[in-house]
Amino acid sequence: MAPALFSPINVGDTHLLNRVVMAPLTRFRADEGGVPSDLQKDYYVQRSQTPGTLLVAEATYVSPGAGGMKTFGGHVPGLWNEAQIAGWKKVIDAVHAKGCKFYIQLWDLGRTANQQVLEKEGLPFTGPSAIPQKGDKFGDKIRALTVPEIKQKIKDYATAAENAIKAGADGVEIHSANGYLPDQFIHWNSNHRTDEYGGSIENRCRFSLEIVDAISASIGSDKLAIRLSPWTDVQDVEVDQVNTLPTFEYIFRQLQKRADNGQKLAYVHLIEPRVNGTKTKREDIAWQTNEPFRKIWKGPLVRAGGFTRETALEAAASDPLTLVAFGRFFISTPDLVERLEKDEKLNPYNRKTFYSSGPVGYIDYPTYEKAKL
Ligand SMILES: Cc1cc2nc3c(=O)[nH]c(=O)nc-3n(C[C@H](O)[C@H](O)[C@H](O)COP(=O)(O)O)c2cc1C
Repeated sequence: MAPALFSPINVGDTHLLNRVVMAPLTRFRADEGGVPSDLQKDYYVQRSQTPGTLLVAEATYVSPGAGGMKTFGGHVPGLWNEAQIAGWKKVIDAVHAKGCKFYIQLWDLGRTANQQVLEKEGLPFTGPSAIPQKGDKFGDKIRALTVPEIKQKIKDYATAAENAIKAGADGVEIHSANGYLPDQFIHWNSNHRTDEYGGSIENRCRFSLEIVDAISASIGSDKLAIRLSPWTDVQDVEVDQVNTLPTFEYIFRQLQKRADNGQKLAYVHLIEPRVNGTKTKREDIAWQTNEPFRKIWKGPLVRAGGFTRETALEAAASDPLTLVAFGRFFISTPDLVERLEKDEKLNPYNRKTFYSSGPVGYIDYPTYEKAKL
């Protein structure tokens, strides 16, 4: 019998033939205006070599104000206009032709955006509160979002989700991790609001959960996922022994409650404590564990962060609804699923080209047959 990692599973209304997932990976290769490029198409097609694999596309702006078009050289993809939808459709049609499935991750930078870029584009620099990120190199003239602006942001996520479906995506994943806007609302140190979006745990989690509800209403919860990183403290969001556990237990309880009431997400994507953003932490910290969350959330769980073939096989075997996402090794190894299956060596990755431009370090990593030559 095939190991669990290589056996089928359903996430929402998407049928997968294995439980290896490509993690969302920002690579700055979209064309001007946030239009997905032919280069991106080639990259995702290369990573679609094993039919029935789920690819979660890189974080994608839900609106022009979600980050500023010229941030990162203007090469982050978007999902609010027809050109972007057409660009994604080309990518997704090609991935589907290879038999793989495609989710798009929805992104708003909030206070991690570049103030100067936003100013030039006539857009406000905002976050949950007027608290800049510590050490922000680009400016500190941040202001708190008004409640009507928050409601508009939530609508932007729902519209982007509808656009993803128009482009042919199988679903979307809310980026509520790694210190971006929804995560900034969740965290006590970046959210000092005194209205219904701040203060208590319930209020701090409201933004993420209202996005969940808005997208569920627009495209259906069986095409929706959310990514959470309770133990990640990149971009000045805090992790501590008092607040982290109860805050995230609350979100998981809310997601499970919705599932019990017929609004079940396709999966929850949870980052392992051993990883911080794009890097593995130097050491494990005993009190940081995802086990309490797994006890609450009974549906499909995608675990990401620092997995090897051995730990991925073990994770899938130990829980009937667990999938394992790979980030850095999916960058370096286009035929990753096949190599994991055959226990073949993976290509080393080159961090220097993670965020560069053009084909080098993007579509020139060899498949196993070529790597052997
Ligand atoms: C170059 C690079 C870009 C990333 N971009 C994103 C992103 O757009 N969205 C996201 O949620 N995580 C992003 N991550 C984090 C990965 O999805 C993943 O959680 C992390 O790399 C840990 O998994 P790994 O140990 O398998 O690499 C990125 C990581 C890297 C290395």
